[in-house]
Amino acid sequence: MSDTQPDDTFEDTSFVPHLDARQRAMLAEMGVRVWAPRAEAAVAGPAAEPAPVSAPVSAPAAVVPEPVAARAVPPVTTSRAPVAVAPSPAPVPAAAPAAVPVERLRPAGVAAMDWPALQAAVSGCEACGLCKTRRNTVFGVGDIGADWMIVGEAPGENEDLQGEPFVGAAGQLLDNMLRAVGRSRAGEGAKGAYIANVLKCRPPANRNPQPQEVAQCEPYLARQVALVKPKIIVAMGRFAVQSLLRTDEPIGRLRGRVHRYEGVPVIVTYHPAYLLRTPADKAKAWEDLCLAMETAGQ
Ligand code: URA
Repeated sequence: MSDTQPDDTFEDTSFVPHLDARQRAMLAEMGVRVWAPRAEAAVAGPAAEPAPVSAPVSAPAAVVPEPVAARAVPPVTTSRAPVAVAPSPAPVPAAAPAAVPVERLRPAGVAAMDWPALQAAVSGCEACGLCKTRRNTVFGVGDIGADWMIVGEAPGENEDLQGEPFVGAAGQLLDNMLRAVGRSRAGEGAKGAYIANVLKCRPPANRNPQPQEVAQCEPYLARQVALVKPKIIVAMGRFAVQSLLRTDEPIGRLRGRVHRYEGVPVIVTYHPAYLLRTPADKAKAWEDLCLAMETAGQ
């Protein structure tokens, strides 16, 4: 279906042959009216609708040049135990005046770390100023052996408090979206998903991530991707998309085709928080999830 197709062409979910009753119920829960997919839907060209959030950011600054040995790292034992997110200790309030930079370098060797080392590195990270205001780092959650990975933007207030990504209202919609494709953050393998953000610390007052923060944090995400080895990454929202793909193109022009990050196929879609504000675009998000399923061979 083209992105410009009007709403009234959507059809009842009962016409969709590959969805079972449970999935149709889940889509109804997600608030999506499902249309009968057309052959061309999955390969639709770039959409022309505007990006969901204000103006595009400039492309993120180049990441600190730490080689990412994504596919060279020996396979991790995929005990199916989800990685527990241990909230990091509350930071000691900075005694130095705000004008004094406190940023330090990331720990060395992120690109070769195993899960415990990576999680510890994130918990203690002081590579940018966000360490001064965070309550907890927000590492990631889900099955480290999952073949789907969801990448969001940055923790918000609830995530900062709980140390887990997507726990607020947007997280509930994300959970519904995952259920619609037969997955959950608690599931394992083909029923699971691993969820992480580009930034591991909350930007104060939920302001936009800054390019230098994205650049400092990106090696952690790159290592998470290398360790999970997903078949598909679903990038949600402008910052996740533009950071992963190193572009300042709006989401609307990036949807509907398969991109790559570290060799892994990436599908671009809207952020659940945007979809809560703009429910009419949930149908496009479902279209994106269908492309993700198709690309992952599911
Ligand atoms: N939005 C995100 O992008 N990530 C979260 O963890 C929460 C809200």
